[in-house]
Amino acid sequence: MSIEYRVNAPVDAETFIALLKASTLAERRPVEDRDCIEGMLRHGNLTVTAWDDRRLVGIARSVTDFHYACYLSDLAVDVAYQKRGIGTRLQALTQDQLGPRCKIILVAAPAANAYYEHVGFSHNPRCWVLERGVRLG
Ligand SMILES: CC(C)(COP(=O)(O)OP(=O)(O)OC[C@H]1O[C@@H](n2cnc3c(N)ncnc32)[C@H](O)[C@@H]1OP(=O)(O)O)[C@@H](O)C(=O)NCCC(=O)NCCS
Repeated sequence: MSIEYRVNAPVDAETFIALLKASTLAERRPVEDRDCIEGMLRHGNLTVTAWDDRRLVGIARSVTDFHYACYLSDLAVDVAYQKRGIGTRLQALTQDQLGPRCKIILVAAPAANAYYEHVGFSHNPRCWVLERGVRLG
């Protein structure tokens, strides 16, 4: 099996949603909200994708300044292609696009918590999230 990796190749909403479903990440992403999904694709500024011929089988979608911080918002690999190194390669190729001072930061899905430790991330107990709907001031 030969997987082709691409940096910032266009991905349409339909194809992205199909991969979110095929990877199980759709359980934790707003796949019913087309406007939100299209906004995620439009405004993310670093996307690495994995293709088996014309089939999208993996994605790492990030928002980054390329120098200090990179938020890896979605990492998803089609269930039929998992545990073959694709997720790790997508992250390595993401890292290749970043400057030497840049950290990758993410919020893990519960099922992927052990994964990030396994591939080399460190757990940061000082990571904080302002949930949607919580207003400041
Ligand atoms: C998490 C995910 C992206 C991993 O992708 P993948 O291509 O299967 O991962 P890799 O093949 O690169 O795995 C690298 C290593 O991690 C291990 N691993 C994979 N999934 C794991 C998991 N859920 N928990 C712990 N270890 C895991 C692999 O066995 C492999 O180990 P090895 O290097 O000792 O052989 C993929 O399972 C996925 O899409 N899951 C559903 C969506 C999800 O939870 N995404 C994360 C959102 S934060």
